[in-house]
Amino acid sequence: MKKVKWGVLGAGGIADRRTIPGMMLAKNAELVAVMEINMEFAERIRAKYNAKRAYDNTDALLADPEVEAVYIASPVIYHKEQVLKAAKAGKHILCEKPIALSVPACEELVEACNEAGVLSATGFMMRYHAYHQKMKEFISEGKIGDVVFCRGQFSCWYPDMEGAWRQNKKLSGGGALIDMGVHAIDLIQYLTDSKVTKVAALNDTKTFQYSVDDSSCVLMKLSNGATAHVDSNFNIPDAASLSLFEIYGTKGSIIAEGTLSQEEGGKVRFMVSDVAGYDANQNRNQVKPLDVPVTFGNMYTKEIESFSNSILTGAPIQVPMSDALYVQRIVTAAYESGEKEIFVEV
Ligand SMILES: NC(=O)c1ccc[n+]([C@@H]2O[C@H](COP(=O)([O-])OP(=O)(O)OC[C@H]3O[C@@H](n4cnc5c(N)ncnc54)[C@H](O)[C@@H]3O)[C@@H](O)[C@H]2O)c1
Repeated sequence: MKKVKWGVLGAGGIADRRTIPGMMLAKNAELVAVMEINMEFAERIRAKYNAKRAYDNTDALLADPEVEAVYIASPVIYHKEQVLKAAKAGKHILCEKPIALSVPACEELVEACNEAGVLSATGFMMRYHAYHQKMKEFISEGKIGDVVFCRGQFSCWYPDMEGAWRQNKKLSGGGALIDMGVHAIDLIQYLTDSKVTKVAALNDTKTFQYSVDDSSCVLMKLSNGATAHVDSNFNIPDAASLSLFEIYGTKGSIIAEGTLSQEEGGKVRFMVSDVAGYDANQNRNQVKPLDVPVTFGNMYTKEIESFSNSILTGAPIQVPMSDALYVQRIVTAAYESGEKEIFVEV
């Protein structure tokens, strides 16, 4: 099988923890080159994955003629420059979320990729989770009726750390909401095939000393008329959160536990309940969750395989970069809403 030859910009963080290991399992991808902030680090990652070449700067990796696609997993502040340069160099681009610090910057990136004729995608890998795919199937087949409410909760414990780029708004664009909540926001839009049209949010830095939000609650109106709510926190211990993700419709619900995660797993209750009429007793015991088997895989492998397949065959991009631009608009509106204490249209 033909393989897309990949280079990685910022190979030492999530790239090393998850995405490169996932890439190594992809049938249609080959890791050719890695880039890190210094040669020793880059060489260590190169050797670990047996890549051909290591670089310590963006331009050098982009000048590598064998590299056809780049995965950008550097701190957010560097994404813009790296996407623009990669597009200019004619490389296809999978850029981690958030793709840039602001909406105009995101627009510039999407436009630059289109103009350069390179394919561009974003790292919302949770779309590939087997349960999320099954949820999409259920919803689009109308099994839970009209979706009326969605709720996503994504959190971690992220205390003050000297020099952490995520804790500096100028380097990251924000905190728990832009870093974690974006996955839930993207999934809600993806699963319901709707766009967020209006938001109201409360964002705060309650527990820690850093300049970004450690707590965020966003209330959203969707274009299908449903409402949604996404909570993002940096101040809840990992083990104390169930990472609940819930979709409710007029004929049932889907309640997921632990699927908003870097690992494909968790538990989901699919409940279908054709109500015959009003029940004054509000009896909740009649519906048993359906048995919905799925086979878990590796979301990062699927992400790389999917984008590589689009490059090789022209198949539609499953998570186009333009979807990240839309999520950025929602997040920006949510930060504005929190500051001004008003509803903001997206
Ligand atoms: N989709 C996911 O599962 C997931 C998970 C975590 C992070 N992320 C995203 O990945 C990106 C990186 O996050 P992270 O957690 O890996 O951060 P990190 O700080 O752990 O790793 C970033 C890496 O980039 C390197 N780096 C620093 N400056 C660089 C530059 N100018 N050019 C290239 N590399 C540079 C660092 O040395 C480091 O190894 C962010 O956009 C983040 O939101 C995605």
